[in-house]
Amino acid sequence: MRFADRIALVTGGASGIGAATCRRLAAEGARVAVTDLDLAGAGRVADEVDGEAYELDVRIDDSIRTAVEAAERDLGPIDVLVNNAGYDEWGWFTETDAALWDRVLSVNLRGVIAVTHSLLPGMQERRRGRIVNTASEAGRVGSSGSAVYSAAKAGVIGFTKTIAIENGRFGITCNAVAPGPIDTPLLVGAPERLGDLGKRIVEKMIGSTNLRRLGRPEEVAAAIAFLASDDASYITGQALGVSGGLARI
Ligand SMILES: NC(=O)c1ccc[n+]([C@@H]2O[C@H](COP(=O)([O-])OP(=O)(O)OC[C@H]3O[C@@H](n4cnc5c(N)ncnc54)[C@H](O)[C@@H]3O)[C@@H](O)[C@H]2O)c1
Repeated sequence: MRFADRIALVTGGASGIGAATCRRLAAEGARVAVTDLDLAGAGRVADEVDGEAYELDVRIDDSIRTAVEAAERDLGPIDVLVNNAGYDEWGWFTETDAALWDRVLSVNLRGVIAVTHSLLPGMQERRRGRIVNTASEAGRVGSSGSAVYSAAKAGVIGFTKTIAIENGRFGITCNAVAPGPIDTPLLVGAPERLGDLGKRIVEKMIGSTNLRRLGRPEEVAAAIAFLASDDASYITGQALGVSGGLARI
């Protein structure tokens, strides 16, 4: 029960890694604010974990403020923030346009920055807090068909390191996980959207892992829970690969 008496807020909690993280944190005692664009999906996960669901679009500052205020009113001050919401549209970079760059950066990079900005002052005041960001190995080694997403995830890793530096004196840690290919709708939907290209990219990703398989959302959730727990009390500013040993895609 590493999270007994802890309140956690997870973005993108309706599906995949976020939903698995809500389940894991709740199983270890946390009260969880399950937040997502998809309120119905967040509601289903919240029902399962005896938490509360909130509509929170990480691209929209008003949406963040409203959801955070409601969560803190209902559950109490947030001790653990998991910035997990993510989104990608695969395609060769030369075929992308500025509208796509904005869509991908606004969720994966600006969203992490904005949600952190809304919760960090309270954590500083209370002199406690754990922040875990879901980055990606794409941000460290690149990923075919995901140039802008990779840039955003690399940005998340740089942001994580700086938040860790600025907030150590408050007793707040900030770390990231860098998943490899994980069996969630974000990845398994790609071949459907991109046909053969998507299928080839996913096969190449699996072949690039030492373990030669997709990861499960629960395997990433376990690493997020570790970094959010007191077991990781002397770990900050790190990006932990949860990727079957993937080194290059
Ligand atoms: N699946 C993988 O292979 C993989 C690999 C590396 C990193 N990741 C990262 O893991 C995180 C979780 O992704 P997943 O694989 O579980 O995908 P997923 O599609 O199952 O879940 C993503 C969730 O984010 C939500 N979301 C999307 N845009 C949002 C927004 N603007 N505001 C709030 N919520 C929003 C979606 O509604 C969805 O519930 C993402 O940050 C993703 O980039 C995934």
